[in-house]
Amino acid sequence: MKQNSKERFHSESMASSYDEMCQLMVPGYNFMQDTLIDKIKFENIGKITLLDLGAGSGIFIERILDEFPDSTCIYLDYSEEFINIASNRLSKYIDRVTYIKSDICDDWELKLESTPNIITSSSAIHHLLNEDKKKLYNKCYDVLEDNGWFFNIDEMKTVYNDAYLQSLHYWIYHTEKLKEIIPKNLNTEYEMVMEKFDDWKKRNVDHINSPKVEGDDIHESFLVQLEWLKEAGFKETDVFCKLYLWSMIGGKKIIKDP
Ligand SMILES: C[S@@+](CC[C@H](N)C(=O)[O-])C[C@H]1O[C@@H](n2cnc3c(N)ncnc32)[C@H](O)[C@@H]1O
Repeated sequence: MKQNSKERFHSESMASSYDEMCQLMVPGYNFMQDTLIDKIKFENIGKITLLDLGAGSGIFIERILDEFPDSTCIYLDYSEEFINIASNRLSKYIDRVTYIKSDICDDWELKLESTPNIITSSSAIHHLLNEDKKKLYNKCYDVLEDNGWFFNIDEMKTVYNDAYLQSLHYWIYHTEKLKEIIPKNLNTEYEMVMEKFDDWKKRNVDHINSPKVEGDDIHESFLVQLEWLKEAGFKETDVFCKLYLWSMIGGKKIIKDP
Protein backbone atom coordinates (compact mmCIF):
# COMPACT_ATOMS: atom_id res chain seq x y z
CA MET A 1 0.00 0.00 0.00
CA LYS A 2 1.24 3.49 -0.80
CA GLN A 3 2.19 5.42 2.29
CA ASN A 4 -0.28 7.82 3.86
CA SER A 5 1.40 10.96 5.14
CA LYS A 6 1.51 14.65 4.97
CA GLU A 7 3.83 14.49 1.95
CA ARG A 8 1.05 14.00 -0.56
CA PHE A 9 -0.05 17.65 -0.35
CA HIS A 10 3.42 18.85 -1.31
CA SER A 11 3.10 17.92 -4.96
CA GLU A 12 2.29 20.10 -7.96
CA SER A 13 0.18 17.44 -9.67
CA MET A 14 -1.81 16.81 -6.48
CA ALA A 15 -2.47 20.53 -5.99
CA SER A 16 -3.48 21.23 -9.59
CA SER A 17 -5.66 18.14 -10.06
CA TYR A 18 -7.39 18.82 -6.72
CA ASP A 19 -8.02 22.40 -7.79
CA GLU A 20 -9.54 21.32 -11.13
CA MET A 21 -11.61 18.48 -9.75
CA CYS A 22 -12.64 19.11 -6.12
CA GLN A 23 -15.99 20.69 -6.95
CA LEU A 24 -16.94 17.52 -8.84
CA MET A 25 -15.14 14.91 -6.76
CA VAL A 26 -16.30 16.00 -3.31
CA PRO A 27 -20.05 15.48 -2.91
CA GLY A 28 -21.78 18.69 -1.85
CA TYR A 29 -18.59 20.79 -2.13
CA ASN A 30 -20.45 23.90 -3.33
CA PHE A 31 -23.57 23.16 -1.28
CA MET A 32 -21.57 23.15 1.97
CA GLN A 33 -19.82 26.41 1.08
CA ASP A 34 -23.16 27.97 0.07
CA THR A 35 -24.55 27.01 3.49
CA LEU A 36 -21.59 28.56 5.27
CA ILE A 37 -21.84 31.79 3.30
CA ASP A 38 -25.57 31.98 3.98
CA LYS A 39 -24.92 31.45 7.71
CA ILE A 40 -22.40 34.31 7.68
CA LYS A 41 -25.03 36.54 6.05
CA PHE A 42 -27.67 35.44 8.56
CA GLU A 43 -25.33 36.23 11.47
CA ASN A 44 -24.82 39.72 10.09
CA ILE A 45 -21.19 39.69 11.14
CA GLY A 46 -20.27 43.09 9.70
CA LYS A 47 -16.82 43.69 8.28
CA ILE A 48 -15.34 40.26 7.84
CA THR A 49 -11.80 39.21 8.68
CA LEU A 50 -11.75 35.52 7.80
CA LEU A 51 -8.96 33.03 8.43
CA ASP A 52 -9.12 29.82 6.37
CA LEU A 53 -7.06 26.92 7.73
CA GLY A 54 -5.75 24.51 5.07
CA ALA A 55 -7.12 26.87 2.44
CA GLY A 56 -5.80 24.84 -0.51
CA SER A 57 -6.24 26.45 -3.90
CA GLY A 58 -8.20 29.38 -2.44
CA ILE A 59 -11.63 28.55 -3.86
CA PHE A 60 -13.51 29.40 -0.66
CA ILE A 61 -11.53 32.57 0.02
CA GLU A 62 -12.27 33.74 -3.52
CA ARG A 63 -15.98 33.28 -2.87
CA ILE A 64 -15.77 35.29 0.38
CA LEU A 65 -13.86 38.13 -1.27
CA ASP A 66 -16.43 38.17 -4.10
CA GLU A 67 -19.52 38.04 -1.88
CA PHE A 68 -18.36 40.50 0.81
CA PRO A 69 -16.63 43.44 -0.88
CA ASP A 70 -15.20 44.94 2.33
CA SER A 71 -13.92 41.62 3.69
CA THR A 72 -10.29 40.65 4.13
CA CYS A 73 -8.97 37.09 4.33
CA ILE A 74 -6.02 35.31 5.84
CA TYR A 75 -4.95 32.24 3.89
CA LEU A 76 -3.11 29.49 5.77
CA ASP A 77 -1.65 26.28 4.35
CA TYR A 78 1.63 24.39 4.62
CA SER A 79 1.90 23.36 0.98
CA GLU A 80 3.97 25.60 -1.29
CA GLU A 81 2.25 23.98 -4.30
CA PHE A 82 -1.26 24.84 -3.06
CA ILE A 83 -0.10 28.36 -2.05
CA ASN A 84 1.15 28.96 -5.61
CA ILE A 85 -2.20 28.04 -7.15
CA ALA A 86 -4.10 30.12 -4.58
CA SER A 87 -1.95 33.21 -5.03
CA ASN A 88 -2.57 33.02 -8.78
CA ARG A 89 -6.32 32.64 -8.30
CA LEU A 90 -6.44 35.48 -5.77
CA SER A 91 -4.03 37.85 -7.51
CA LYS A 92 -6.75 40.39 -8.25
CA TYR A 93 -7.42 40.67 -4.49
CA ILE A 94 -3.79 41.29 -3.61
CA ASP A 95 -4.67 44.04 -1.07
CA ARG A 96 -7.27 41.93 0.71
CA VAL A 97 -5.45 38.65 1.32
CA THR A 98 -2.49 37.81 3.49
CA TYR A 99 -0.72 34.46 3.37
CA ILE A 100 0.63 32.36 6.18
CA LYS A 101 2.69 29.30 5.32
CA SER A 102 2.36 27.09 8.35
CA ASP A 103 1.31 23.73 9.65
CA ILE A 104 -2.12 24.02 11.29
CA CYS A 105 -0.55 22.44 14.38
CA ASP A 106 2.23 25.03 14.67
CA ASP A 107 2.11 28.47 16.32
CA TRP A 108 0.48 30.29 13.38
CA GLU A 109 -1.34 32.62 15.76
CA LEU A 110 1.97 34.43 16.30
CA LYS A 111 1.98 35.38 12.61
CA LEU A 112 -1.51 36.94 12.56
CA GLU A 113 -1.49 40.65 11.76
CA SER A 114 -5.20 41.07 12.46
CA THR A 115 -7.77 39.33 14.64
CA PRO A 116 -10.20 37.16 12.67
CA ASN A 117 -13.91 37.29 13.40
CA ILE A 118 -14.47 34.12 11.35
CA ILE A 119 -12.24 31.04 11.22
CA THR A 120 -13.07 28.35 8.68
CA SER A 121 -11.57 25.13 7.44
CA SER A 122 -12.62 22.54 4.90
CA SER A 123 -11.32 19.06 4.27
CA ALA A 124 -8.13 19.69 6.27
CA ILE A 125 -8.63 19.17 10.02
CA HIS A 126 -9.44 15.46 9.62
CA HIS A 127 -5.75 14.95 8.78
CA LEU A 128 -4.81 15.92 12.35
CA LEU A 129 -4.60 13.51 15.27
CA ASN A 130 -7.59 13.83 17.57
CA GLU A 131 -5.56 15.45 20.36
CA ASP A 132 -4.38 18.06 17.82
CA LYS A 133 -7.95 18.68 16.59
CA LYS A 134 -8.95 19.43 20.18
CA LYS A 135 -5.98 21.73 20.75
CA LEU A 136 -6.81 23.51 17.51
CA TYR A 137 -10.43 24.12 18.54
CA ASN A 138 -9.19 25.64 21.81
CA LYS A 139 -6.72 27.82 19.95
CA CYS A 140 -9.37 29.00 17.47
CA TYR A 141 -11.57 30.01 20.39
CA ASP A 142 -8.73 32.01 21.95
CA VAL A 143 -7.74 33.68 18.68
CA LEU A 144 -11.23 34.71 17.55
CA GLU A 145 -12.67 38.14 18.17
CA ASP A 146 -15.62 38.24 20.64
CA ASN A 147 -18.82 37.19 18.87
CA GLY A 148 -16.74 35.54 16.17
CA TRP A 149 -17.59 32.22 14.54
CA PHE A 150 -15.67 29.03 13.85
CA PHE A 151 -16.77 26.57 11.14
CA ASN A 152 -15.30 23.26 10.05
CA ILE A 153 -16.56 21.53 6.90
CA ASP A 154 -14.92 18.13 6.95
CA GLU A 155 -14.97 14.38 6.56
CA MET A 156 -16.43 13.08 9.82
CA LYS A 157 -17.91 9.88 11.16
CA THR A 158 -21.60 9.85 11.80
CA VAL A 159 -23.53 8.46 14.78
CA TYR A 160 -23.58 4.77 13.86
CA ASN A 161 -20.71 2.72 12.44
CA ASP A 162 -22.73 0.93 9.73
CA ALA A 163 -23.84 4.29 8.34
CA TYR A 164 -20.25 5.58 8.48
CA LEU A 165 -19.11 2.61 6.38
CA GLN A 166 -21.84 3.37 3.87
CA SER A 167 -20.73 7.01 3.71
CA LEU A 168 -17.27 5.80 2.63
CA HIS A 169 -18.84 3.60 -0.05
CA TYR A 170 -21.04 6.48 -1.15
CA TRP A 171 -17.94 8.49 -2.01
CA ILE A 172 -16.62 5.63 -4.15
CA TYR A 173 -20.00 5.40 -5.92
CA HIS A 174 -20.04 9.19 -6.43
CA THR A 175 -16.56 9.30 -8.01
CA GLU A 176 -17.20 6.32 -10.29
CA LYS A 177 -20.49 7.82 -11.46
CA LEU A 178 -18.58 10.94 -12.52
CA LYS A 179 -16.86 8.98 -15.30
CA GLU A 180 -20.08 9.10 -17.32
CA ILE A 181 -20.63 12.83 -17.05
CA ILE A 182 -17.15 14.29 -16.90
CA PRO A 183 -16.52 16.84 -19.68
CA LYS A 184 -14.00 15.50 -22.24
CA ASN A 185 -11.50 18.28 -21.49
CA LEU A 186 -11.26 17.06 -17.88
CA ASN A 187 -10.61 13.40 -18.68
CA THR A 188 -6.89 13.58 -17.88
CA GLU A 189 -7.48 15.38 -14.58
CA TYR A 190 -10.17 12.85 -13.73
CA GLU A 191 -7.78 9.95 -14.32
CA MET A 192 -5.10 11.65 -12.22
CA VAL A 193 -7.40 12.35 -9.35
CA MET A 194 -8.84 8.81 -9.48
CA GLU A 195 -5.33 7.40 -9.18
CA LYS A 196 -4.94 9.30 -5.92
CA PHE A 197 -8.45 8.35 -4.89
CA ASP A 198 -7.37 4.72 -5.20
CA ASP A 199 -4.92 5.35 -2.36
CA TRP A 200 -7.76 6.90 -0.35
CA LYS A 201 -9.81 3.72 -0.91
CA LYS A 202 -6.91 1.52 0.19
CA ARG A 203 -6.31 3.58 3.32
CA ASN A 204 -9.90 4.04 4.38
CA VAL A 205 -11.82 1.05 3.09
CA ASP A 206 -9.47 -1.89 2.38
CA HIS A 207 -7.30 -1.13 5.44
CA ILE A 208 -9.97 0.46 7.60
CA ASN A 209 -8.63 -1.13 10.77
CA SER A 210 -4.98 -0.19 10.28
CA PRO A 211 -3.67 2.29 12.87
CA LYS A 212 -3.78 5.91 11.71
CA VAL A 213 -0.94 8.40 11.80
CA GLU A 214 -0.90 12.18 11.39
CA GLY A 215 -1.69 13.04 7.76
CA ASP A 216 -4.05 10.08 7.29
CA ASP A 217 -7.81 10.52 7.16
CA ILE A 218 -8.56 10.43 10.87
CA HIS A 219 -12.34 10.57 10.92
CA GLU A 220 -14.02 11.46 14.20
CA SER A 221 -17.75 11.78 14.66
CA PHE A 222 -19.43 15.14 14.43
CA LEU A 223 -21.01 14.51 17.85
CA VAL A 224 -17.63 14.06 19.56
CA GLN A 225 -16.26 17.12 17.78
CA LEU A 226 -19.27 19.20 18.81
CA GLU A 227 -18.42 18.29 22.41
CA TRP A 228 -14.85 19.46 21.86
CA LEU A 229 -16.17 22.77 20.54
CA LYS A 230 -18.38 23.11 23.64
CA GLU A 231 -15.44 22.29 25.91
CA ALA A 232 -13.39 24.96 24.13
CA GLY A 233 -16.09 27.48 25.10
CA PHE A 234 -18.08 27.80 21.88
CA LYS A 235 -21.83 28.49 22.12
CA GLU A 236 -24.64 27.85 19.63
CA THR A 237 -22.61 24.84 18.44
CA ASP A 238 -24.38 22.79 15.83
CA VAL A 239 -24.04 20.60 12.78
CA PHE A 240 -25.33 23.11 10.26
CA CYS A 241 -25.42 20.66 7.40
CA LYS A 242 -24.43 17.10 6.62
CA LEU A 243 -24.11 15.01 3.49
CA TYR A 244 -22.85 11.44 3.91
CA LEU A 245 -19.20 11.74 5.03
CA TRP A 246 -19.23 15.56 5.22
CA SER A 247 -20.47 17.68 8.08
CA MET A 248 -20.28 21.37 8.71
CA ILE A 249 -19.96 22.03 12.42
CA GLY A 250 -19.32 25.29 14.19
CA GLY A 251 -19.87 27.58 17.11
CA LYS A 252 -19.78 31.16 18.32
CA LYS A 253 -17.43 32.79 20.81
CA ILE A 254 -19.71 34.67 23.14
CA ILE A 255 -18.07 36.47 26.02
CA LYS A 256 -20.57 37.20 28.79
CA ASP A 257 -20.86 40.77 30.08
CA PRO A 258 -18.70 41.25 33.20
C1 LIG B 1 -8.13 18.39 0.59
S1 LIG B 1 -7.33 19.94 0.53
C2 LIG B 1 -8.68 21.09 0.88
C3 LIG B 1 -8.38 22.48 0.37
C4 LIG B 1 -9.49 23.51 0.58
N1 LIG B 1 -9.74 23.76 1.98
C5 LIG B 1 -10.76 23.06 -0.10
O1 LIG B 1 -11.70 22.66 0.59
O2 LIG B 1 -10.80 23.13 -1.33
C6 LIG B 1 -6.47 19.94 2.07
C7 LIG B 1 -5.58 21.17 2.25
O3 LIG B 1 -5.17 21.24 3.60
C8 LIG B 1 -3.78 21.42 3.65
N2 LIG B 1 -3.33 20.80 4.90
C9 LIG B 1 -3.52 19.51 5.29
N3 LIG B 1 -2.97 19.30 6.49
C10 LIG B 1 -2.41 20.49 6.86
C11 LIG B 1 -1.68 20.91 8.01
N4 LIG B 1 -1.42 20.08 9.02
N5 LIG B 1 -1.26 22.19 8.06
C12 LIG B 1 -1.52 23.06 7.05
N6 LIG B 1 -2.19 22.71 5.92
C13 LIG B 1 -2.64 21.44 5.85
C14 LIG B 1 -3.23 20.77 2.39
O4 LIG B 1 -1.98 21.31 2.03
C15 LIG B 1 -4.32 21.11 1.40
O5 LIG B 1 -4.13 22.36 0.80
